[in-house]
Amino acid sequence: MLADFADVIESGSRDEALLARIAWDRLPRHVGIIMDGNGRWAAQRGQPRIAGHRAGVEAVRAAVDTGARLGLGALTLYAFSTENWKRPRLEVDALMRMLKRYLRLELEEISRQHIRFQTIGRTAALERSVQREIAHAVEQTSANRGMVLNVALNYGGRAEIVDACRAAIRRLQREGRAPEEITEEEIARELYTHGLPELDLLVRTSGELRISNFLLWQAAYSEIYVTDVLWPDFRRVHLLEAVVEYQRRDRRFGGLQLVANAK
Ligand code: IPE
Ligand code: IPE
Ligand code: MG
Repeated sequence: MLADFADVIESGSRDEALLARIAWDRLPRHVGIIMDGNGRWAAQRGQPRIAGHRAGVEAVRAAVDTGARLGLGALTLYAFSTENWKRPRLEVDALMRMLKRYLRLELEEISRQHIRFQTIGRTAALERSVQREIAHAVEQTSANRGMVLNVALNYGGRAEIVDACRAAIRRLQREGRAPEEITEEEIARELYTHGLPELDLLVRTSGELRISNFLLWQAAYSEIYVTDVLWPDFRRVHLLEAVVEYQRRDRRFGGLQLVANAK
């Protein structure tokens, strides 16, 4: 609601103008963000890539805060892909350290905003200390009933579909059923995102026009919004711009009639 921004919006600002245009009954239920461009942001400043990741944490804060104030059902942030292990060890270690630090520093604020923290991805393959920090944050926020902050870690859309198929096949075998009986709903029920609202809006920063293995199944009918803004520069105004643009789109889901872009 507009009132949820009262303490942070300056009168006459672009934020205020964008907020005035938002249709509060048609918000995207679930927004996913491919947070890209940290390396380029750093390169533009002659700094190491890690400096870009560090600066990106401020953008994460802004996106989480704005998502919670908007009242999104869920915000999924793509933080580390199954392919990101190809990066130098030092960079991977720095990303993991920053994740732990973020969770430690932000837990109080996350709880204050009634946010429920969770992750998707093969987190069992992450370092033990990272797993411990995640488990702590999940547990501390499990009773919260506000926005779900869902961080994709060691996440790959293909890996997710493989994991879902394995689980569905196991269930099939247990129940002695034929493969033909498997439905889309049964696969969807085994996805990491089970229980979260439909992915209505997929945002990618830094201008790249690709999905990079993010939420492949869930993005089937998502609206895609790409901005040239590099992730460390992403702020409230950019998420509001994405939501306003989302609300201008005609969604059809393969039919001929327009469908209101959120329930
Ligand atoms: C996104 O920024 C952060 C992660 C993938 C973890 P990049 O590190 O991919 O930045 P660019 O794409 O090289 O600019
Ligand atoms: C996608 O960004 C992964 C995350 C944002 C975590 P990448 O920078 O890894 O993707 P590509 O390599 O440009 O496709
Ligand atoms: Mg990148």
